[in-house]
Amino acid sequence: MKTINWGILGAARVNQRLLPAIENNKYSKILMLASRRNGAAEGCVNQYAKNPEGIKTTTHFDDIINHPEINAIYIPLANEEHTEVALKAIAQKKHVLIEKPMALTKQEVESITKAAKDNNVIVMEGFMYVFHPQFDFILEFINSGKLGKIQYAHSMFSFPIQPARYYRINRSMQDGGGALWDIGPYAIHTLRQVMGGYIKQINATAKINSHQADMSTSGIIEFTDQRRATFDISFECTRRSEFEIFGEKGRLKCHTVWQHENDEAIISYEIDGSAPVIEKIQKGNHFDLEINHFIDCIFNNKESNKLSMNDAIQQVASMEAAYESIQGNKWVSI
Ligand SMILES: NC(=O)c1ccc[n+]([C@@H]2O[C@H](COP(=O)([O-])OP(=O)(O)OC[C@H]3O[C@@H](n4cnc5c(N)ncnc54)[C@H](OP(=O)(O)O)[C@@H]3O)[C@@H](O)[C@H]2O)c1
Repeated sequence: MKTINWGILGAARVNQRLLPAIENNKYSKILMLASRRNGAAEGCVNQYAKNPEGIKTTTHFDDIINHPEINAIYIPLANEEHTEVALKAIAQKKHVLIEKPMALTKQEVESITKAAKDNNVIVMEGFMYVFHPQFDFILEFINSGKLGKIQYAHSMFSFPIQPARYYRINRSMQDGGGALWDIGPYAIHTLRQVMGGYIKQINATAKINSHQADMSTSGIIEFTDQRRATFDISFECTRRSEFEIFGEKGRLKCHTVWQHENDEAIISYEIDGSAPVIEKIQKGNHFDLEINHFIDCIFNNKESNKLSMNDAIQQVASMEAAYESIQGNKWVSI
């Protein structure tokens, strides 16, 4: 099998997780990392890559996008920058892994989907948490019927934002700033995965700062069959990274879902009022597993069955509805 040569667009902090994950994949090699800021690419490579020696750096994205030997591009840019760069990369027949949220509008994700199809390349949104072994456990548990039909779920994601990240809340939601666009994608995506079915409408409310960015947002999601789910995200609360699912017969809680590689994976559940059972799931590096999956998709020339482009379209439509609901203070249909 051939090697997949990678280029990385942006000296982003999340590269701390992804650079080693790409290096750990036996079919992958990182050729180049670009940052528009002088010196930032070198700093990023030296700080985060396990083997920085072989990785070239540049200040021009086009050096990567037009590089004849690069087959795959990872885009960890600011959310509002994903689409333009992804479309340029896809036009050069590069496979593209785009960080969540893939884009800010349904129209953008549809244009990426069409471009991927036209150019016969794989594109995937980077929801790494679905590759953790605990998520397989949870989906199997739901499918086993032990909880009965799932009627409701609640997800929570928060942490106090650190001063170094204030630039995320110093620009408006309209420009991709705030908690909804940053951590909201996880909370909403997870609810979509565990509830199943399609969302009918969303009602969300936010605490907005002076830059028009949301610091905290809470929302209700109504599915087409009237089942409900709720989410709560915040840059002001202590760390919460969890969700809970309630079926007709039982409940299940995932205690640390959007986790770091070495966090304990703990699931607890109660069936029919029985004593709580605590399951310790094997630890897993979901970033490694995400990259392995993406490489499999490339080799099999098949879009992801876990994170399809249809899923990305449903996801961005949900995000847009939540955003519009906050702006308009009303339920927004999908
Ligand atoms: N999957 C995950 O676990 C995970 C975790 C966190 C974030 N994310 C997602 O990954 C993407 C990047 O997030 P992030 O938090 O890693 O981004 P970040 O560090 O804020 O970097 C985003 C981009 O902004 C530029 N940048 C970085 N630091 C800067 C600074 N000090 N001043 C000016 N520009 C700067 C970089 O582009 P240049 O180098 O070209 O300037 C970089 O690619 C987002 O879409 C986010 O939602 C995913």
